[in-house]
Amino acid sequence: MMPDYAKSLPNTMNHFVHPFTQLAAVEVSGPNVIMSGQGARVTDRDGRELLDGFAGLWCVNIGYGRSEVVEAARQQMSKLPYASSFFGSANEPALQLAKELVRLSPDSLQHVFFTLGGSDAVDSALKIIRYFFNVTGRPEKNHVIALERGYHGVSSAGAGLTGLSSCHRFFDLPLPYQHHIPSHYRYRSTYGGTDAEIISGSVAALEAKVAGLGGSSKVAAFFCEPVQGSGGVIVPPEGWLAAMRDACAKLDILFVVDEVITGFGRTGQLFACDWERIQPDLMTIAKGLTSGYSPMGAVLISEEIYRALVDQVPSDLAFAHGFTYTGHPVSASVALACLEIYQREQLPENSKTVGAYLLKGLEALREHPWIGDVRGKGLLAAVELVANRETREPFDPGLGVSQLVRKKAYENGLIVRAFADNVIGLAPPLIVSEDDVDQMLDRLARAIHAAKTELDGA
Ligand SMILES: Cc1ncc(COP(=O)(O)O)c(C=O)c1O
Repeated sequence: MMPDYAKSLPNTMNHFVHPFTQLAAVEVSGPNVIMSGQGARVTDRDGRELLDGFAGLWCVNIGYGRSEVVEAARQQMSKLPYASSFFGSANEPALQLAKELVRLSPDSLQHVFFTLGGSDAVDSALKIIRYFFNVTGRPEKNHVIALERGYHGVSSAGAGLTGLSSCHRFFDLPLPYQHHIPSHYRYRSTYGGTDAEIISGSVAALEAKVAGLGGSSKVAAFFCEPVQGSGGVIVPPEGWLAAMRDACAKLDILFVVDEVITGFGRTGQLFACDWERIQPDLMTIAKGLTSGYSPMGAVLISEEIYRALVDQVPSDLAFAHGFTYTGHPVSASVALACLEIYQREQLPENSKTVGAYLLKGLEALREHPWIGDVRGKGLLAAVELVANRETREPFDPGLGVSQLVRKKAYENGLIVRAFADNVIGLAPPLIVSEDDVDQMLDRLARAIHAAKTELDGA
């Protein structure tokens, strides 16, 4: 029998707490349930087939229904579903995956600490940095700087590094040691409009922030994404990442690249760092590592930092950090199968060429009076919708323009992401063809048109 309290709950009440969701709204609408997927398409509970223009949550890079990955997981589950990595133990797939990641990533990164996803990769990076400066006798080097509009997950510490106020409000974040400088956001630039101004402005902002915190002896690290994702797909000017890397070296602070979205081909190279041959001190990865088939993330660590963890601590002290599922053998097998697919099918290359085609198609949509900006790199792209193109005046947030476009896109058979500030994001699986892109563009154009017709009529 239904308990009394349950009778007063709304009909649509379910027991699942949705992340990043207006919980009151989903109680009314009910959840949107995806049932199956194949290639770049998914089918929902109503039987509607949709082009997945966002690869799940920018993670299903190899597309849905890849039997070789399923088979790798099945075999590993049958052979050994779990093995602890604590106390000097390991399993073969995890050891092999660490080796493969070191081979494929920038040369500066020589060691891998596995996590379950991106947030705990960022959190682990923060803890490793703290540990590193403590064991090397620099405990005061503890401030950390990131970008406004950056996203570094939602762990108690990582959410403070995230530069989005929605992730701070009511969570008492950021923490006192976390600081932000303005984004390289060209469309609404605080640095000036040219590449050179944005780059020199960003470097100067970092230098000023470090000086304001008491100088290099007080600052541990700078974190950034090579392309800002959840902040609205904000692509820095060419040379920005290299300039920030150099600035960190000069300032004697660690340079941490968060490639949770951009890793594994998303921007047209295996890692976005590869575009400018960046050698970071630490790199966080997740999402495309397993293409979403199984949870896994990692922090890649430089030799210098790793050696300090080995050599600078008392020999009887364990590195007391790690998760039950660190180096999970099934996720590691899945990741190895994904890495094989990225290389065999040259998916980073497809991302580059089909991504350029997508960007060209989005540029053609600029004719629409709502489209203020178009930006992207590889198969990571966005349009920013504005009330007035000449003045770049944003829409009144109360109008819910991007949510309306997302809804209309869905009705037209396309999944897109609606970001704050009326940015519509596209990040399809890296297997998409130009034909798929044509369909995406057509459906998006129809969605924007339908949303405008509805708002104009209201
Ligand atoms: C750049 C970046 N870092 C970290 C995270 C957090 O990853 P996860 O959601 O797997 O915890 C994300 C997630 O979108 C991300 O985009």
